[in-house]
Amino acid sequence: MIICITGTPGVGKSTIAKRLSKRIGANVLDLEEIAKKEKIVKGYDRSARSYVIDETKITKAIKKYIEKGKDYIVPNHLSQFISPKIVDFCFVLRYNPKKLEHRLKRRKYPKRKVMENVETEILDSCLIESIQNKHRKIHEIDTSDRKIDDIVNEIIKIINGRKKPSYGKTSWMKKYESMLK
Ligand SMILES: Nc1ncnc2c1ncn2[C@@H]1O[C@H](COP(=O)(O)OP(=O)(O)OP(=O)(O)O)[C@@H](O)[C@H]1O
Ligand SMILES: [Mg+2]
Repeated sequence: MIICITGTPGVGKSTIAKRLSKRIGANVLDLEEIAKKEKIVKGYDRSARSYVIDETKITKAIKKYIEKGKDYIVPNHLSQFISPKIVDFCFVLRYNPKKLEHRLKRRKYPKRKVMENVETEILDSCLIESIQNKHRKIHEIDTSDRKIDDIVNEIIKIINGRKKPSYGKTSWMKKYESMLK
């Protein structure tokens, strides 16, 4: 089983993946690490201080690190680009843009990168990409003011089939449009 956890940088993907992996005994795959090893990095965005991964090559690269019968979690803002053929669940974590701005500023991200990511969150980018890539089981979770274990419990419910995956309820646009450039 492969579980994608996507969402704008800073929403809590790695934190949730770590806790989830302990609960369900799955391995966490570091997509950035794999991208470097497999040389699918297109370049380095200096102003954003991050590597640019070639999305079209992610699936092939990741297949090398997957064994049949084992469970994997891929927490990355590009995990929605993995082929839906090999992905079982695609979780999209959301976070209040105002809170996200504070969290990213605390990380000492450059101003431009903070605002780019806030914009990405307001525009539902990761969710839209997940839908465009035709993932079958997409589940969106607004993590704002929610405890890590509470979020992980919801994810486990979806995986176990005790809750139906759904998306489309989170909408920041009305309230936070003024934060866009
Ligand atoms: N539900 C939560 N409640 C409180 N704090 C949280 C929660 N989720 C994440 N955090 C905190 O928010 C910060 C960002 O989390 P994390 O690094 O997991 O985000 P990320 O989505 O993996 O970011 P990136 O895309 O840059 O890797 C961390 O300091 C983490 O402890
Ligand atoms: Mg992370």
